[in-house]
Amino acid sequence: MYRIGEAEVKRIQKLFDSGKIFRYGSGEECEMFEKNWGRYVGADYCRMARSGTSALYTALVGLGVGPGDQVIVPAYTYMATALAVLAAGAIPVIADIDKSLTLCPKDLEQKITKHTRAIIPVHMVGVPCHMKKIMKIANKYNLLVLEDACQAVGGGYEGEMLGGIGHAGAFSFNFYKNMTCGEGGAFVTHSKAAFERGSVAVDCCSFYWNPEEGEGREEREELQFAGNNFRASEVEGAILNVQLKRIKGMLQKMREHKQELLQVGLDAGLKSIKNNSLKYECGTHLGFIFKKEKQARAFRDKLGAQAVSSFLPMDTGRHVYTRWEPIMRYQGAHHPALDPFKLPANRKALVKYSPDMCQDSLNILSRAVLVPMHANNTKSRVRRIAAAIRTAAE
Ligand SMILES: Cc1ncc(COP(=O)(O)O)c(C=O)c1O
Repeated sequence: MYRIGEAEVKRIQKLFDSGKIFRYGSGEECEMFEKNWGRYVGADYCRMARSGTSALYTALVGLGVGPGDQVIVPAYTYMATALAVLAAGAIPVIADIDKSLTLCPKDLEQKITKHTRAIIPVHMVGVPCHMKKIMKIANKYNLLVLEDACQAVGGGYEGEMLGGIGHAGAFSFNFYKNMTCGEGGAFVTHSKAAFERGSVAVDCCSFYWNPEEGEGREEREELQFAGNNFRASEVEGAILNVQLKRIKGMLQKMREHKQELLQVGLDAGLKSIKNNSLKYECGTHLGFIFKKEKQARAFRDKLGAQAVSSFLPMDTGRHVYTRWEPIMRYQGAHHPALDPFKLPANRKALVKYSPDMCQDSLNILSRAVLVPMHANNTKSRVRRIAAAIRTAAE
C-alpha cells in the first residue's frame, strides 16, 4: 500500500551525515514525527514505539488496564490486538463483527460485564468501525476506548481522524501498512497521565529522557514502575517524517478508485460490505459480500483469472479468532506464574473460548471478498479492474 523512495534515502543520508541517530539529546526526527502525527490525528500526545503490537500494549499500560479487567476485541483482527491485552495482564473478550467486518456495536454491548474496563475497536482493512455507536456505548458504561488503527493509518471517520476518536489509538508502520519504516508503531492519547505511563512502558527511563520543565521526574511515584524498551530510533523517525507528507494524497487516490469500482460492482448487481464512512475512510480495500461462500470463492477465482488479486478475509490466517492459538489454548504468557489466565486477580474475569463462539463472524468472513487498492494504480489499471469486476459478477 505504501510508497517509499528517493526522498527517504535523502533524509536518511542527511541523518547519517549528522551522526545523530539516537532520538534523545540532539535527535530531532522522532520528536518531529510525534508532534506532527499527534496533530494529524487530532490527539494531544503521541509516543513512537517499535511496532503496532508494542503501541497497543503500551497504550493499555498507559490507560491503566491490567489484571481483573476484561477488554473487548473483535473476532476479526490480527491476533496482536488480543495478545496485547494479555501482555497487560487483562483478559480479552471476543465479540462478533458485522457486515462492515468491524466490531458489531450490538454484540459489543451484549459482551459487557461488570469486569469490562476497555474496548478495542479495530478499523480493519482501512474500513472504520461505527465509532458513533461504539463511543456512545463506551460512555454509557464508562469504558475506555483504545482504537486499533494499525490497518487504517491516516484514515478518518465522519470528519474525525482514526486513532484520535477514543481515549487512545495505536498505529503500526510495518511493511504492509499505509505508512512504513519497515517496522514501527506509535500510540496517541488525549490524556497526559496515559501518555506519561505509556511512555514508561515504551522506555523504562522515559522520565529521565523527558524531564518536566523546571522539575525532575525522578520523584514522580506513579512513573516508578518497571518499564521496557520499545524506543524508536531516529532512522524510523526520519523515514516516517517523509512518509507523512505522502499519506493524504495516497489515501485520497485510493478512496476515489474504491468509490469508482464500488459503483461498478453495485451496477453489476453485487452487494457491498458495510462501509461506515466512505467519504473519510482509507479506501485501501473494496469489499463485496455474497449469499454463499461458494459464490465468494468463485468471484475471487474469476478476478484472479483476469489478473486482479482479491481474497476472502476468512483465509487470512491469524486475523480470524479461531486461529489465535495462544488464546484458544489459554497460553497467556511464557511463564505460568505470569499467565493472565491463571492469575488470581483474573479469576472472576475469565471467559471460555471456543471455535464456534462467534459463528456470525465466521459466516460473514467466509462470504466476503476484498479487493486491495493501490495508490500507484493508473486510470487504465482501474479500468481493467472495473472490467474484471463486471465479468466476474456475471
Ligand atoms: C489490526 C492490527 N493490529 C495490530 C497489528 C500489529 O502491528 P505490528 O505488526 O506492527 O506489531 C497489526 C499488524 O499487522 C494489525 O493488522
